[in-house]
Amino acid sequence: MSQKFYQEFKLGILGGGQLGRMLIQSGIDWNINFSILDPDPSAPCKSLAEFTTGKLTDYQTVMDFGKSCDLITIEIENVNVSALKELERQGKKVFPQPAVIELIQDKRIQKQFYKDHQIPTADFILTENKEEVLKRKSFLPAVNKLGREGYDGRGVQILLTERDLEKAFEAPSLLEKLIDFDKEISVIVARNEKGETKTFPAVEMVFHPAANLVEYLFSPAAISKEVEKEADAIAKKIITDLNMVGLLAVEMFVTKDQKVLVNEIAPRPHNSGHQTIEANVTSQYQQHLRAILNLPLGDTSIIQPSAMVNVLGEDGFSGLAKYNGLEEVLNRPGVYVHLYGKKLTKPFRKMGHVTIVDSDVERLKNTANFVKQTLKVTT
Ligand SMILES: Nc1ncnc2c1ncn2[C@@H]1O[C@H](COP(=O)(O)OP(=O)(O)OP(=O)(O)O)[C@@H](O)[C@H]1O
Ligand SMILES: [Mg+2]
Repeated sequence: MSQKFYQEFKLGILGGGQLGRMLIQSGIDWNINFSILDPDPSAPCKSLAEFTTGKLTDYQTVMDFGKSCDLITIEIENVNVSALKELERQGKKVFPQPAVIELIQDKRIQKQFYKDHQIPTADFILTENKEEVLKRKSFLPAVNKLGREGYDGRGVQILLTERDLEKAFEAPSLLEKLIDFDKEISVIVARNEKGETKTFPAVEMVFHPAANLVEYLFSPAAISKEVEKEADAIAKKIITDLNMVGLLAVEMFVTKDQKVLVNEIAPRPHNSGHQTIEANVTSQYQQHLRAILNLPLGDTSIIQPSAMVNVLGEDGFSGLAKYNGLEEVLNRPGVYVHLYGKKLTKPFRKMGHVTIVDSDVERLKNTANFVKQTLKVTT
């Protein structure tokens, strides 16, 4: 394959959102041809590659799409796994492997995997419906999580007191102990077919309390050497135990007594790795390509400390997006704006992100705050 360097090679991505968009951006340097499947005819990848409008969860749509590609990857987990399994059976390369996507699609199976593999995670019980949650008063305070199809915090309910039990999910879910954490961190790890693994240094995430989305991210995380080592080892163990090829983001809690617990994993480029484009030697997107093409994994070292701010649609605005404060933000040194090509904004929609790099961590935080307060998406 290297003799052609991908000139006649077609990499299919299930999903045409911002993650796909940045993956294409990275693949252009290697002559990779991309083909995209997404249900939204105006998805962020629309005009950047061969584009098919179609449902990611439909068996036949995914089959037809997959057959026309040389290698298939994903930028979203909610895809038809049966079709991917059949494509794999027919000899198509699918990375991450369909079995891994299937496991991750269900948080209940994910949690069971951690337990079976002695990977530290919050204690949990499985519940089939609301009635079962109501019987578990003694397990509070807890977090009720939908088994399937929850994302961006939409399948997560925090149940502090008996009164909150009303918010419990009717569908198969899990009830997990509420962790009074010190920090939330993420380690992104890559693994190629040769079994080589490499982690990015841990980053620290700060969440938006109402929207449940990452609001800021700092790299590197302010954690001890011991915690860093532990988090790194856990990420490597998970990707190896899964026998997975590709990129895996491992979201973790650092507890007040400095223990590391796995929250959840995502088998693809991740929101917590955007800053690697400017701030690390190899970006998460290039690392994903290296992993799935079985190329040597790149150096993940940090070049400079960085912060990442998600640019979310302002609350109260829906319609054609307008970006306010761009010039003020771009006037500051070390500020890199990424817009995702979404025409329409709505409250808390991810419209872009900004990475800030600065060798001075205090100044970095100040600029991140300035960016947050200045760059607003309205209509
Ligand atoms: N057991 C827990 N204890 C305390 N807080 C929790 C727990 N589980 C989840 N949370 C909080 O809720 C957030 C969202 O949970 P989780 O990551 O499981 O859901 P999600 O919908 O998949 O999120 P996303 O798609 O944004 O990553 C976590 O980042 C964390 O802040
Ligand atoms: Mg999460």
